[in-house]
Amino acid sequence: MTSAATTGCLDFVQFFRSWIADPLRVAAVAPSGEALARLITRDIAPDDGPVLELGPGTGVFTKALLARGVSERDLTLVEYGSEFMRMLQFRFPQARVLWMDAAQLSRYEIYAGAPVGSVVSGLPLLSMSPRKVTSILSGTFSYMRPGGAFYQFTYGLRCPVPRPILDRLGLKATLVGRVARNIPPAAVYKIVRRRPVTIANRRFGDIG
Ligand SMILES: C[S@@+](CC[C@H](N)C(=O)[O-])C[C@H]1O[C@@H](n2cnc3c(N)ncnc32)[C@H](O)[C@@H]1O
Repeated sequence: MTSAATTGCLDFVQFFRSWIADPLRVAAVAPSGEALARLITRDIAPDDGPVLELGPGTGVFTKALLARGVSERDLTLVEYGSEFMRMLQFRFPQARVLWMDAAQLSRYEIYAGAPVGSVVSGLPLLSMSPRKVTSILSGTFSYMRPGGAFYQFTYGLRCPVPRPILDRLGLKATLVGRVARNIPPAAVYKIVRRRPVTIANRRFGDIG
């Protein structure tokens, strides 16, 4: 076996064990495949850094971000599972790994100001309460610079962020694409702020 195949096998075993121990948190039996990792990071460029990744697990999307040219030093990885957190610290020593619940992001000043260009999320939003999803989005967008985007994957047929939450936060979601070659098949959504409408030099709030 090549070392990449061995690593893939070990990641699968670790992931599966974590899913057995905490199925709601992990919400998948295996790490995402490379096709999904490429799709969710497809539109991210090196100058989108700093990049925030939520729920990186074994780091499949993290590796894809590095392959896109994002500097490891520009990565902040927010992971709730201690088993994954230790693995991420070992694999990405120059990245900042935060062992925390992504719903608590707004409680800590993890960045000065709002410098983040992109957020990549592997969080299981479908198994979270609307309140938690709202906290995660409002927290991450508070660190996002103008024009920044939040990329989320889902195994569901629709965007995993319900429309009322998008409306309340002044956000909109568009489908980036679907990946059949993933277990299970998945889709990626891009969530951005709605454009503020300016009429005769006056801003009329955020409307879609
Ligand atoms: C479906 S897995 C995705 C893992 C990886 N991104 C992938 O695609 O292979 C969900 C990940 O989110 C993490 N997670 C779940 N709830 C979390 C939370 N509230 N805050 C931070 N991480 C969380 C889990 O520990 C797990 O690593």
